[in-house]
Amino acid sequence: MSSSGEAELLHTFKGIPFTTRSSPELLKSLDTFDAREDDVLLVSYPKSGTHWLAGVITKLYDTRVTVTSPIELGDISQLEELNKLSSKRIIPTHLDYNMLPPNFKNKKCKMIYISRNPKDTAVSMFHYYRDNPNLPTVDSWTAFFDLFLKGNVVCGSWFDHFLSWEEHEDEKNILFLFYEDMKKDLPKVVKEITLFLNLNVSDDDIQDICNKSSFSEMKNDTEKENSDPSHTVCALTSNRKLIFRKGAVGDWKNYFTPKQNIRFEEIFNEKMKLSKM
Ligand code: A3P
Repeated sequence: MSSSGEAELLHTFKGIPFTTRSSPELLKSLDTFDAREDDVLLVSYPKSGTHWLAGVITKLYDTRVTVTSPIELGDISQLEELNKLSSKRIIPTHLDYNMLPPNFKNKKCKMIYISRNPKDTAVSMFHYYRDNPNLPTVDSWTAFFDLFLKGNVVCGSWFDHFLSWEEHEDEKNILFLFYEDMKKDLPKVVKEITLFLNLNVSDDDIQDICNKSSFSEMKNDTEKENSDPSHTVCALTSNRKLIFRKGAVGDWKNYFTPKQNIRFEEIFNEKMKLSKM
């Protein structure tokens, strides 16, 4: 990573690297954020399938809902913008559990955490770093692999992020989902989401929503959507075209060397020793 790039594009808040798209003033003010009881949070570490989940969830409602920009994106005026919205809010965020505005916790807002095999997440993030001008340049996969394992990437350590949320997995207002389960049986996961959100959606409609949410459909929609390319649910870019790369499980095998795999497994086993994963 070029150090000048890093200096210009990232800053650290409470020990976690953020892009300059998240202003320090906004991050400081999150503690006073006014949550509403019917807010739904879409939570993820970057590159875990957030857009896929957001695409599915918006299709489940027959009332007006707004998928807002990520809560940590922008300057202090973002909080006012979110306050002004009159419709139900679906709010995406990459925040660690500990940084989440306390109001969401106190009001027991529904939160959906989506996670993905961290090896695939790392590969997806490597490409995102390469293609996204808001992120520092990385010279090679080898260099990025080291940064990822050390948590020296935007949003910090995958392990810390996952563990901070997993600790709250049993709370009734939090639903844990996995990208791999969505790949394996999307209708089943969508059914689970409807039950969690108390939405009445028929099996036929669920099937239809799943068909419309396939990787190829969503990628095509984005290519047609040139009129509004500025809406993503990721605080790291507003360019939707950067999101739909490959959409596969196991792409890590095309990048990890056997040695890197052993190192990753060692660190995974150590960091996740108290995890149920
Ligand atoms: P890849 O880079 O591995 O292709 P996020 O939305 O959190 O930024 O995650 C982006 C990842 O989700 C990308 O992974 C992207 O291709 C994948 N993705 C997006 N929509 C998808 C879909 N409908 N089906 C499967 N994967 C999808």
